This record gives sequence, C-alpha cells and structure tokens, in this order.
Amino acid sequence: MKKSPNPFKDILLSKIKNKTALVGVIGLGYVGLPLAVEKALKGYQTIGFDVQKKKVEAINRGENYNRDIDNQDLAEVVASGKLKATDDYQFLQDVDIVSICVPTPLDQYLQPDMSYIKNSIKNVARFVHRGMLIILESTTYPGTTNEILKPVIEEKSKLQCGLDFFLAFSPERIDPGNPWYKVRNTPKVVGGVTPVCTEIAASYYQHIIDGKVISVSSAKIAEMEKIYENVFRYTNIALVNEMAILCQKMGIDFWEVIAAASTKPYGFMPFYPGPGVGGHCIPLDPFYLSWKAREYHHHTRLIELAGEINRGMPGYIIERVTKLLSQRLKKSLRDSKALLLGITYKRDVNDIRESPALEIIKKLTGEKVKVSYYDPYIEKVLIDDKEYYSLKNLNETEVKDQDIILITTDHHKVDYRMVIKNAKIVFDTRNAIKSHFENVEKL
Ligand SMILES: NC(=O)c1ccc[n+]([C@@H]2O[C@H](COP(=O)([O-])OP(=O)(O)OC[C@H]3O[C@@H](n4cnc5c(N)ncnc54)[C@H](O)[C@@H]3O)[C@@H](O)[C@H]2O)c1
Repeated sequence: MKKSPNPFKDILLSKIKNKTALVGVIGLGYVGLPLAVEKALKGYQTIGFDVQKKKVEAINRGENYNRDIDNQDLAEVVASGKLKATDDYQFLQDVDIVSICVPTPLDQYLQPDMSYIKNSIKNVARFVHRGMLIILESTTYPGTTNEILKPVIEEKSKLQCGLDFFLAFSPERIDPGNPWYKVRNTPKVVGGVTPVCTEIAASYYQHIIDGKVISVSSAKIAEMEKIYENVFRYTNIALVNEMAILCQKMGIDFWEVIAAASTKPYGFMPFYPGPGVGGHCIPLDPFYLSWKAREYHHHTRLIELAGEINRGMPGYIIERVTKLLSQRLKKSLRDSKALLLGITYKRDVNDIRESPALEIIKKLTGEKVKVSYYDPYIEKVLIDDKEYYSLKNLNETEVKDQDIILITTDHHKVDYRMVIKNAKIVFDTRNAIKSHFENVEKL
C-alpha cells in the first residue's frame, strides 16, 4: 500500500471518521453555540469556550440562550457529557480541531475591529500541537487566515502549516430565525491554506452537516465568497430602499411592484426595503472589504453608496413621520407620542445589534418626541445612557394614546388587527399589514 507523506493528516482523518476527534468551538454566540451543539449531536466530544462566564455556566447547566437551538437538543448533549463549556484556554491542549467564531465588528471609524480574532488566535497559538486543525468561521476580509492567523501560529508553535498543523477558513452562514435552514442543512464552503488543510476541513464538515460541503482552492476564496454574499445583500437592499423612496414620491406602491416582479421565474430575486439594515453581518461585513480594497488602491464605490443609502434610512423614516403627523394630525414632531412596534433588527429574533429601530428611537428622542416601544423579545434597551423598557402588553388604551405607531420590525407575535383598529396613524416600514387601510401608511 502507498504510504501517505503526512502521518498527522492520516491520524486526524481517521479520528474524524471514527468520531474520536476532540473538538472545540471558541465563541459561543449566535454562530458558535449552534455549531457546537451540532458537533456534539453528531457524536463528537465537544468543548465550547467563551470569555463570558455566564454563558459557560448556562451551557453547563443545560440552559439554552439561543432561540434557534432546540432546548431539548442542548439539554441532551450536556446531560450525555458530549458538550461541555469552559472559560479556560487550557482545554486546547488536547483538542484535535477548533473552530473560531468570535465577533468581527467595525470600530468607531467604521474600520475592521480585528481585536477579537487577534486575541483568540494569540491564545490558540499557545496550544497548537502537531496534527491539530484550526478553522476560522468569523466573517472577515480576504487574506485574514493567511496574513494574520498563519504567521502568529507558526511563530508561536514553531510548527509548519499544512505539514504539522492544518488551517482553514469556513464561513458560517447561519440565518437567525430561519425555520428551514439551520447549521445542519446549509451547504458549507471550505478553503484551506494548503490543499491538505482543505481536504481535512472538508472531511470534518462532511461528518457534521447533512448539506453539501463545497471545497474551494484557498482560504482567500472562501473569505471573499462570504463577503461577496453579504455585499450582494447589502447593495440589493440599498437598491430597493432607493426604489421605495422614489416610488413614494411618484405615488406608486413599491410593495405591489416587488410582488409583481417576483413572478418572473428567472433572473430576479426579491429584496425588501425597510427602516435600515441591522444585525452583526450585513451592515458591517461589506466595510471589511472596502477597507482591504484600499490596500490595492481600489475604491469600492458601490459599497460606499449602498452604505450612504442604507444608513440614511432612519433619517428618512423621521422625515416621513414628521410629514404624517403634520398632514394627518396637524401636529409637529416635537412633543408628539410615538410607539415603535418591534426593535430587533429582524422579525422573530432577540438580537438588537445594529438595529435601525435604535437609531430611530435616538433620533425621535432628540426631537423631543415621547417615545415608547413594544417588543416581545426585548425587555429593555439602553440608548445613549437612557434606559427604555418595552410595554408589558400591547393593549387598546396604549395604542389609542399614541399619535403615531411605527412598525419597525414585523414580529409575528403582534396583534396588528387591534393596532389598526385603535391607532390614529400606523407607519408600516415592513409591509406587515398587507391590505389597504385609511390610517396605515407604508414605507
Ligand atoms: N449572527 C449571525 O447571523 C452571523 C451569521 C454568519 C456569520 N456571522 C459571523 O460570525 C462571527 C460571530 O458572530 P456572532 O453573531 O456569533 O457573535 P456573538 O457576539 O453572538 O458571539 C461571539 C461570542 O464570542 C465571545 N468572545 C468574544 N471574544 C472572545 C475571545 N477572545 N475568545 C473567546 N470568545 C470570545 C463572545 O463572548 C460571544 O459569546 C462574526 O464574525 C459574524 O460576522 C454571524
């Protein structure tokens, strides 16, 4: 039999195959926890790591804090000992494969904040040993795995990538709140620093997910692929936001336009306008690319323009609210009463990161509007050192008491019929209300 030139590869591939590989996940957030649970469910002994002690303790008690994970699944893998959590990096000593799922936000100058990745890789590098596979899953600019992770690990461990240890990038595509697509059935792209790294990482994911695993020729391709997905969404959302503004001026119902265009069976994909773009991915990731593009003296005009349009949406919402109050109630914005329905960045999730509703609350408060909100998923929110609490219940008296109701997120758990019946004006920025009503204005 032909002997393989890399014994570490063979050992790891066989551990993956017979599920004796000890696997780790760093960062137990929206991305990391579902991934860790899935690995444990597939039979791998899994250790999750997070810097937040309360998350670690919750998991070890079998308590779920992520709405996309089945409570039963989490409780089961914790009870069987397949999933454990820790806040001590020492666990990496014995781990065969580790996935890194830490945040990648923007800093105050809207530039990539790489501190989370750098911090975790510095710690991982202390424990990298022969035959280990490290996979970065956080969304980042093309080049990160080769330019940041590889040199730090090689320098610290004195080992060689592709020979002694293996390194790959595999973007997470999780879509919080999506009832159909989960980690399990979403195709996964994998790109290694060397072909051997790709081969091992792809084999690993083939054992974890039921969806397709797509191997690409490098980590850089995988990194760009993920950013391209998000740029695609971001620029298309900007396009529909601009179309919505224009259609309003022209007296055309843009929602009806989208519905009609969506009947085309090829070459069209619907995107929907809204009060802005939120979440930890879509409004941030495109700017990782614009930042990197500058190194190549390239100005990503379309991304910048999309940013201008999308970030302008909360301001546009305020303009429309001002007009509505003036035209329909002969009231000025100042001292009026506005209630926001839904403040999370999208429907039926409990995540408020980058949510445009927060910017709208801030702007309205700045205009001396008496602002309140109702969100079944968010009990309280802190904006510019001011605490806002959700109404406990949305009842007729509260609705009647408002000058305007803004539907900023279209949660299913809201009784829109009651709202329409009792509100003076409803400004629906999400097309939550499909039929026409005299007191309902759409974005
Ligand atoms: N949320 C999404 O929908 C989504 C989808 C696809 C990809 N992503 C990407 O995945 C990455 C993680 O996003 P998320 O939404 O899971 O973030 P998150 O904030 O929900 O989770 C990140 C976790 O990492 C922990 N953490 C921070 N610094 C750490 C460190 N040095 N070591 C270990 N743990 C650390 C945090 O405590 C937190 O629990 C980001 O790059 C994001 O762009 C997110």
